[in-house]
Amino acid sequence: MREAIRRLPTVVPAPPDRPELAGPDHPMRKVTRQVAFEPDGWTRERARKVGELFDTMAPQWSERATEERRSVLRDALARGEVRDGTPPRGGVCVEIGSGTGSSTPDLAATWPRVVALDLSREMLRHAPEEPGLRVQADAARLPLSDGGADALVLVNALLFPQEMDRALAPAGVLVWVNSLGDRTPIHLSPEDVAKALPGAWTGVAAEAAWGIWCTLRRADG
Ligand SMILES: C[S@@+](CC[C@H](N)C(=O)[O-])C[C@H]1O[C@@H](n2cnc3c(N)ncnc32)[C@H](O)[C@@H]1O
Repeated sequence: MREAIRRLPTVVPAPPDRPELAGPDHPMRKVTRQVAFEPDGWTRERARKVGELFDTMAPQWSERATEERRSVLRDALARGEVRDGTPPRGGVCVEIGSGTGSSTPDLAATWPRVVALDLSREMLRHAPEEPGLRVQADAARLPLSDGGADALVLVNALLFPQEMDRALAPAGVLVWVNSLGDRTPIHLSPEDVAKALPGAWTGVAAEAAWGIWCTLRRADG
């Protein structure tokens, strides 16, 4: 078997009335799959359009940062064995597509150093200055050396499989969160995340509140 993901029981129950934000036909769902599974899925033109789209949403983006949504990442950090193999000091967590920064405090409570990256200048402008170092960058071309990240965290963010593989340290962990499960516009199942990444990956996954998460490591890491 190429990938093995262990399902944990749900400990954060789903509240009623999950927002039905996006289904399989949502345009961002198609972009997500193309970026993950097609070598030419991310073009300069697409980067420009996606950056502009999120620029326009930045002023209101923080309104989405509810406790229900944040509880999905918190469950992943609590039960996803994310610090196993990370050096006790100097562990670098890179947050991909950090938006207006609602996840960054939870990441800064877990890793000593957090770099929060986003394509959209406006998202970064609406994020607090701390915690974390905020950097404008395209996750398709990370400003990181090979293996420079001990953890890569993607909360509702596009997966660039080759670049994630290049930037993640051999024993590093990739954390994938979809706050609204399969109603998240940028959605992939944990199995699809593992399938899209080069090589073999193992990890754990769970449902939490309205969302899903998984944490993955290289099977031979
Ligand atoms: C759906 S939002 C999620 C934001 C945040 N993680 C959250 O959950 O609130 C996706 C974010 O990814 C950013 N993004 C999109 N494409 C990106 C890319 N190629 N590189 C870096 N960030 C990107 C967008 O600007 C946006 O802020």
